Amino acid sequence: MPAHTLPDPQAFPKEFLFGAATSAYQIEGAVHADGRGLSMWDSFAHNSGRIADGSTGDVACDHYHRMESDVALIQSLGHTAYRFSVAWPRVLPTGRGTVNTPGLDFYDRLVDQLLARGITPYATLYHWDLPLALHAQGGWLRRDTCHAFAEFAEVVARRLGDRVHSYATLNEPRCSATVGYQEGRHAPGLQDRGMALQAAHHLMLAHGLAVPALRAHTRTAQVGVVLDVKPYYAADTRTETTHAVQMADGVFNRWFLDPIFHGHYPQDVWQAHGDLVPVVHADDLQTICQPLDALGINYYTRGHVVHDGALPFPHAREVPVDGATYTTMGWEVFPEGLRQMLVRIHREYAPANLYVAENGAALDDHVHAGRVHDPVRVRYLQEHLEACAQALAQGVPLQAWLGWSLMDNYEWGKGYTQRFGLCHVDYATQTRTPKDSALWLREFITRHRAI
Ligand code: FCB
Repeated sequence: MPAHTLPDPQAFPKEFLFGAATSAYQIEGAVHADGRGLSMWDSFAHNSGRIADGSTGDVACDHYHRMESDVALIQSLGHTAYRFSVAWPRVLPTGRGTVNTPGLDFYDRLVDQLLARGITPYATLYHWDLPLALHAQGGWLRRDTCHAFAEFAEVVARRLGDRVHSYATLNEPRCSATVGYQEGRHAPGLQDRGMALQAAHHLMLAHGLAVPALRAHTRTAQVGVVLDVKPYYAADTRTETTHAVQMADGVFNRWFLDPIFHGHYPQDVWQAHGDLVPVVHADDLQTICQPLDALGINYYTRGHVVHDGALPFPHAREVPVDGATYTTMGWEVFPEGLRQMLVRIHREYAPANLYVAENGAALDDHVHAGRVHDPVRVRYLQEHLEACAQALAQGVPLQAWLGWSLMDNYEWGKGYTQRFGLCHVDYATQTRTPKDSALWLREFITRHRAI
């Protein structure tokens, strides 16, 4: 590997926050505890036959029962921020109506614990665990689900209020819609492009309705959304490939960024979808395009593609890059893409603030004599933090970097086969072991705090 530049802690403003992210279904377990209802992920994990190792999130990292020691762990890693998600079915077991107080209490305690240990809370309201009862009524294909979501947002904000520094309505509406309703690899496991487009529209509408609901019960908390972004690059010089790159970018990035920040769908992709475009009511785009305080982006890799007419729209086939490093997800390590996306989003969409809400690598990690040597992840963190430093130097209003993930966890359709954690988890004993990358990051944060 050629040498690379190490990030300089001084390149980050004093108030810059560093930490890690998780999501409810991936870590909490305790799926029947204290009145929690079921989500469509409980059902998908148990019944679809599409989880790589046949596993479920029933136990996961048992975080629900270990929350206090996990927060102590976060503090011991030196983190100054933590992003978690609130499980909708814990708070409203059937999606709407009567609040399940013990479920809401859990997040109330979590936030208090974080604050007591000097860790800034970032809360995501929807990280894919749609209450099963709402899914049974049509889920994200049904417009009414958007209103149910806004009610849920209000319940959470009423309780957690300004103790949460930053609320994100949704995590990755693109992934929810595309992987869940078109590719069928995630819940609810449907395979229909038109349905995916309708689900995406409803997710964005839900976001737009939730923003004022959150603002009604907060004064200082930031309100925003988390989007997954991925830059696309042509792997050959054919005109068809240039077009495929434009469409892939449109489908992945602009389909969500344009409505949320500009109040319209991208024309080129809208036309390309033909009859499959979603039903959009008169004021929907106005509702979707709310002023936001912050945008979180999840960045993992890029798309390096060629046109392939045999593939469905956008006809973009990913091709490997010679000499590149790949994670066990099969994702290329490409830190320059993070800098480029940050700069591009700042220039084209100008959110008031940006934060990296997820960024990380899955690797084949093992514990040896109490240590986990993960040099590839150490380097991944160094290079991506350097990309953040460069974006800051270019004027991007970046506030925080949150790694994915605090600890190894349930990686959706891949079950427990992927280890993204800064901490290794032994699922048999629930032992958490900070990996070398976590120790490197602690050192980096410590140097930053000493400025
Ligand atoms: C993102 C998800 C997150 C995790 C990472 C690897 O798409 O938001 O929950 O699964 O990918």
